[in-house]
Amino acid sequence: MGIERLFRKEKQEHRILREATQRAGQLVPEYHRPTPECPHPERWSMYDSMTAEVEVLEFLRTLVTTTKPNLVVETGTFMGVSTLWIAEALRRNGLGKIVSCEYDPKVFEIAKQKIEASEFRDLIDLRNQSSLEMNVEGTIDLFFSDSDMPIREQEVRRYLPQISPFGIILMHDASSHLKQVREAALNLEREGLISVVLLPTPRGLVVAQKREGRK
Ligand SMILES: C[S@@+](CC[C@H](N)C(=O)[O-])C[C@H]1O[C@@H](n2cnc3c(N)ncnc32)[C@H](O)[C@@H]1O
Repeated sequence: MGIERLFRKEKQEHRILREATQRAGQLVPEYHRPTPECPHPERWSMYDSMTAEVEVLEFLRTLVTTTKPNLVVETGTFMGVSTLWIAEALRRNGLGKIVSCEYDPKVFEIAKQKIEASEFRDLIDLRNQSSLEMNVEGTIDLFFSDSDMPIREQEVRRYLPQISPFGIILMHDASSHLKQVREAALNLEREGLISVVLLPTPRGLVVAQKREGRK
């Protein structure tokens, strides 16, 4: 056991990162707890409990090839898996780029190495910054909110003026069990800022669009 783990509590992100590295990309059944909207999470699969479910990665990739965004913004890179799936779709489209931010310096370094070694590095602008401090230029066509759950509402509010009225907003971890992100999305909807659809996936996924400017 490493000294860090022996003497102080290992940060959740670092533990999952270490375990995922040991598993070397092997998939396991999703083990988030069953919810009324998704009673059989084991029918889905995952690399680890931080990275989006494989089926959600597939959805992201298809959404990108379907809507052909010029600018994608992702909050919460973790190991860069979702970033790379999105970038693969951007490559297929032949246009667009993704800006992704990761707050934790240790996690950022690992994501950076992985992305620099990939064939999609020219499409990815990776930032070691908090989503609440990062500045992105231009109109956002696809916003994927996947950072720290307690700040997701703040995040969407912060980027909303920059999101295209024809754009798509995704908020991950919005299951009825995880609650916080689901509530955040419903609050934003109650205020009339966005319209939401709650996809019944293991960890929950909000697909939304902003109301202002919609035609
Ligand atoms: C759920 S993981 C992201 C998973 C990734 N999107 C994927 O599916 O492959 C969340 C990540 O957000 C990072 N994070 C937490 N707070 C953040 C913030 N304020 N800004 C950017 N990243 C943050 C965490 O360190 C963690 O690595």
